[in-house]
Amino acid sequence: MDKNNSSENQEQEEQVVNPWEVSAKGKIDYDKLIEKFGCQRLDQSIIDRVARLTGRPPHVFLRRAVFFAHRDFNEILDAYERGEKFYLYTGRGPSSEALHLGHLVPFMFTKYLQDAFKVPLVIQLTDDEKCMWKNLTVEESQRLARENAKDIIACGFDASKTFIFSDFDYVGGSFYKNMVKIAKCVTYNKAAPSFPSSFPHLFTGMDNLRCLIPCAIDQDPYFRMTRDVAPRLGYHKPALIESLFFPALQGETGKMSASDPNSAIYVTDSGKDIKNKINKYAFSGGQDSVENHRKYGANLEVDIPIKYLGFFLEDDAELEYIRTEYGAGRMLTGEVKKQLTEILMEMVERHRRARAAVTDEMVDAFMAVRPLPNMFR
Ligand code: TRP
Repeated sequence: MDKNNSSENQEQEEQVVNPWEVSAKGKIDYDKLIEKFGCQRLDQSIIDRVARLTGRPPHVFLRRAVFFAHRDFNEILDAYERGEKFYLYTGRGPSSEALHLGHLVPFMFTKYLQDAFKVPLVIQLTDDEKCMWKNLTVEESQRLARENAKDIIACGFDASKTFIFSDFDYVGGSFYKNMVKIAKCVTYNKAAPSFPSSFPHLFTGMDNLRCLIPCAIDQDPYFRMTRDVAPRLGYHKPALIESLFFPALQGETGKMSASDPNSAIYVTDSGKDIKNKINKYAFSGGQDSVENHRKYGANLEVDIPIKYLGFFLEDDAELEYIRTEYGAGRMLTGEVKKQLTEILMEMVERHRRARAAVTDEMVDAFMAVRPLPNMFR
């Protein structure tokens, strides 16, 4: 093996990113991921184009490059500009009762896309997969799917444009036929929602409809396979818009771990929990003494409160002010943490209230197999 090869292998071991595992020795190298996966960087010209086409300011996740990579998103925009429509597809594997803030990121962004482009959305709850992989009973997986649906609905989706489905309930008929067609092309089959014919109650006669999938970048390998088989089945390749991971409190080495409750802030955490977790666990780039901090300033590159503010503090000027003052040592870690605590407490409280207002009847309504009257309005 030559030198180049062996160093490449070493790099591969240092960073593993796929739907089943996300791990890195240091920080995730997202540039390397784009190169390895072969997706494209979402550049400023695309963001400007989204703003122009939708007539609204770009979402904070676009401005801050939380959604930073894509496949064929420009083609979706080309088609949209010509007056052609598309639909959105995203999903969640319901493996736990409580969602953490990282889980909300793709849903918050999808809600913005739905509102901005006025397009239908399908949300898959892969309760079948979690039942098999996480060794849950069928009943427990289905219960978790419905509980998670409440958190998803609480993000504010429009019932007249959104179809939420559980694999256990919905797979069959046209959807299952597509699964089998796909299975004949690849030995693997989690692609059916990317094709409009899987939803005859929504998209009959619209086989040409394009699909855009917002997701975290670890899901990319799934949809690479879907994209490979799409032309053979007579459909457009689904387009993707892909996000960074939401970092753990302890530092940026992957996505938050569901198994360590102190690594993440949950939508069920109390204000006190949030305050404690941030103060105790959020990795700080501040210096070890006030004296040194005033002298050297904070290392913003590793500072978790700054990263979190980058996701959830919407005011660009205020974020810039904090970055400058904290980076120069004029602001202390405690002050930055206090600001973050307030923002997250408010956000989680708002979510808690919205979720409490979601009734079982509403879940049934979102999950009913039905036409969506306002789909493209
Ligand atoms: N695989 C995802 C998970 O385990 C769930 C999922 C299904 C999904 N379809 C998707 C995520 C489409 C993003 C986009 O959480």
